[in-house]
Amino acid sequence: MIVLDEVSKVYQGADGEVRALDGVGLSVADGEFVAVRGPSGSGKSTLLLVMGGMVRPTSGTVTIDDRRLYSLSPAERARLRAERIGFVFQLFHLVPYLSAVDNVLVPVLAGMRRDRDEAASVLRRLEMGERLHHRPRELSTGECQRVALARALIKRPDIILADEPTGNLDPENAAAVMGYLADFHRDGGTVLVVSHDALAERYADRTVHLDRGRIVPERPQA
Ligand SMILES: Nc1ncnc2c1ncn2[C@@H]1O[C@H](COP(=O)(O)OP(=O)(O)OP(=O)(O)O)[C@@H](O)[C@H]1O
Ligand SMILES: [Mg+2]
Repeated sequence: MIVLDEVSKVYQGADGEVRALDGVGLSVADGEFVAVRGPSGSGKSTLLLVMGGMVRPTSGTVTIDDRRLYSLSPAERARLRAERIGFVFQLFHLVPYLSAVDNVLVPVLAGMRRDRDEAASVLRRLEMGERLHHRPRELSTGECQRVALARALIKRPDIILADEPTGNLDPENAAAVMGYLADFHRDGGTVLVVSHDALAERYADRTVHLDRGRIVPERPQA
């Protein structure tokens, strides 16, 4: 269970303060699939980064299974993140000089016990078997997206936080990536996915709408 209580995040930008999150309260149960929607700049990426232990909120608390994420030491927080959370970044963050298979192994090299065969097998599941040794610049955008997803899956996390994993994908590839997240969810995983398109909502148990850093109450269905 992930619980955010009164979470605010104020960035000090070059143009002054930005209140990216403004008193967000949110609980996500184990095994839930939650879609996050909202306009550009509404705080979606910030929300995921705060939940993933990567950005400390200015105020409020984030709790994962009764452990306060930002009360942990940096080393404990890094371990919790490494063991339990797979993160798919909006801009992939692939290592440019590593092949697809080596990019998937990055979390493994960072101390996880998984090997090359497993990295290749996760990539094959994502229909990337013919591209194992391509570097990011030798891959299409959709292929990079799948490498980023494979890198999250290889950790066998409990939670996947995915930021626009289907941005820039054609409908067929977008549906395939959503299908993989749905498989992970069906096997008991917890998923939060930021998405601009309606596809994610079809797979999600519920949708959280963000607007200017606040959660907007669900509009009643017409
Ligand atoms: N490191 C930063 N320093 C200053 N301001 C930031 C920083 N990161 C984000 N912001 C600002 O915080 C607000 C929320 O940003 P965030 O990236 O969370 O939005 P988003 O909903 O993910 O948008 P998009 O849909 O475009 O990805 C934006 O107005 C952005 O300009
Ligand atoms: Mg974003």
